[in-house]
Amino acid sequence: MSVFQEQLARCLAAFQVSTAALQTMAQAFAADMQAGLQGSPRSLAMLPSYLSTPTGREQGCFAALDFGGTNVRVLLTELHGDGTLHIQNRLTRSLRDPAAGYDHIGPAATATALFDFIAAQLGELLPPGPAYALGHTFSFPIQQTGLNRGTLMYWTKEFETQGVVGQEINELLGAALKRCGRGDIQPVALLNDTVGTLLAAAYSDVHCDIAAICGTGHNTAYLEPHHPATGKPMIINLESGCFNGVPRNDLDLQLDAASESPGISHLEKMVSGRYVGELARLACLRLLPYGLLAGSPAAMYLNGSDCLDGATLALWAADAAPRYVGIRRWLTEHCATIDPLAADCAALQAIAQAVLTRSARLAAASFAGILQHIDPELTRPHTIAVDGSLYEKAPGYAAALQSTLQELLGSKAAQVTTRLVKDGSGVGAAIASAVAVRS
Ligand code: BGC
Repeated sequence: MSVFQEQLARCLAAFQVSTAALQTMAQAFAADMQAGLQGSPRSLAMLPSYLSTPTGREQGCFAALDFGGTNVRVLLTELHGDGTLHIQNRLTRSLRDPAAGYDHIGPAATATALFDFIAAQLGELLPPGPAYALGHTFSFPIQQTGLNRGTLMYWTKEFETQGVVGQEINELLGAALKRCGRGDIQPVALLNDTVGTLLAAAYSDVHCDIAAICGTGHNTAYLEPHHPATGKPMIINLESGCFNGVPRNDLDLQLDAASESPGISHLEKMVSGRYVGELARLACLRLLPYGLLAGSPAAMYLNGSDCLDGATLALWAADAAPRYVGIRRWLTEHCATIDPLAADCAALQAIAQAVLTRSARLAAASFAGILQHIDPELTRPHTIAVDGSLYEKAPGYAAALQSTLQELLGSKAAQVTTRLVKDGSGVGAAIASAVAVRS
């Protein structure tokens, strides 16, 4: 084996997590959940949503705002009251458009401009006339004190807008709606996207009690059968990206140290699309001195932090050997690298696959931890609803997640179904407003 192949193998091995390590992580996750419910210090935030799962009989026309990525979406949804629904109208807008001269999520952006922009999109989709009850999916950690009340704890993903952290989110939105003359649109519910996805899936599937996002950010919510505050079922937003009981390698430590929030959010930094590209980049940098992409301008390109993202890894992972048409095209377009060696393309592909597979396996271990907490013997069926670009688009990701659950749960894994619930966060917001209006 050449020195390069040896170093590549070593790098790939650092991303392998054994079944035993995943079992240990699942146990630690379940213990952290338990501690969180009892109010002891823990890394999981365990945030209350003030919502339980829907009955499926929720009915009526509701507006929804889905805020959490660079695109904001607004929807008008009709719930039929029999587990089915119809999206009557929808609109998607980017929160950042340099060509149009605006950026509502960068460090110079302000809360007023951001919420005025969102209110304008709502005003465009919803014709004045009837009053609208609005559910607001806000895909960040929110400390809720009621179904319609919650403050942003801190921004995640690439958001940095000033004046939002610590503020009542729906007050900011309500004030902006009034400023633009649309006081007829009333925010009645505030929820995390994982909670929205759980609601959307549970609207037609009584077995759904866990929902996760495996996309730019990573997080999971679950239905706690007996919430200590109420003794009743309540959906909890785990903010599972904060979980710190994960086995990390030296590249994880390097990424964490250079990140905007060193020392926290270990799981998010190993699983989410926001960071997997950076992990792959650090792995490539390790291999440059041993001949990866030797003599090509790609080496220079890879020196720039955040130059790889989840979509690039998905493209590399999906490419077909031995021609590697996709990787070759990517190298030409991004790094002016013509005619790379097949061995280099194979190495890039192996790195992408290793990082993505580990992401799926760690997410699966956290699901196993939740199942251990809610139904240790797996006596009943559970559906885990998952949304997000990694789960939906990265080749082999959903399969790796499913097979890891099998590995961890053995024959009882037959009780657990994992399924894609696309855009559930918007539909979930409509369901949450129906619950709010009813109560
Ligand atoms: C946020 C979560 C969110 C997840 C998926 C994370 O960065 O902290 O609140 O659910 O991204 O959007």
